[in-house]
Amino acid sequence: MREEVIKKIDSSENPSELFDEFKPFNTLMMYYRCAIMEVETKFRVLNEQFSVQYNRNPIESIHTRLKKPASIMGKLKRKELPVSVRTIEENLFDIAGVRVICSFQDDIYTMADLLLQQDDIQLVEKKDYIKRPKDNGYRSLHLIVDVPIFLSNEKRHMKVEVQLRTIAMDFWASLEHKLKYKKHIQNAEEIAGRLKMVADVITEMDCAMQDIHNMIELEDGSVEELGENRTEGD
Ligand code: GTP
Ligand code: MG
Repeated sequence: MREEVIKKIDSSENPSELFDEFKPFNTLMMYYRCAIMEVETKFRVLNEQFSVQYNRNPIESIHTRLKKPASIMGKLKRKELPVSVRTIEENLFDIAGVRVICSFQDDIYTMADLLLQQDDIQLVEKKDYIKRPKDNGYRSLHLIVDVPIFLSNEKRHMKVEVQLRTIAMDFWASLEHKLKYKKHIQNAEEIAGRLKMVADVITEMDCAMQDIHNMIELEDGSVEELGENRTEGD
């Protein structure tokens, strides 16, 4: 696949017109879209079960994205890799992205464990930026998973990047990401320091919310137990 080909896809008003010309690339992107659907559905299923069984939703929202051709090109260039469908598949593991926003910190690990327990999912890589946040304060749990997609004539294994965060972690990451685009800042050091401070406040908030949640769950559980005992005694 030539560089101009991807540029053409990226700048085209109607990329579907170019489908025949760029078939291998478009086919690969279709595989990744299917893999996103598979992983997203797995999380939706888990959330659905929790809502009926435990009367709560551990997942607040799910966002998915397919990496844009220009970003794919940029990453191949940075890694000094040749531009081909094969190198994309073998070296870039974040073409398909699924971001899962959870209510509480513990929900992140519960959801991650429940996904990884599934017998068609293979863990490729795990980066725990919650236990070990980045120096700038960034926190999230990152997984690269291998998931099969079932096509009419074959079963294909695709890699998907899953990012799990709380609402608070997502709030910080989204705004920090926006701020990154502002170039030529004079007081970059002060800004970085302030962002780190906000990240620390957010960590405290997440921990406090988790504690409150645990307290309520505990009380709720003991009330239910009492209720059950009462019924038994009657
Ligand atoms: P790349 O995949 O090349 O980005 O490098 P990597 O694999 O070392 O990245 P990593 O797994 O650490 O992070 C990948 C993704 O996490 C990024 O594309 C972002 O979506 C998110 N991320 C990582 N670090 C930060 C950060 O400091 N701030 C924000 N806002 N997002 C981050
Ligand atoms: Mg990555």
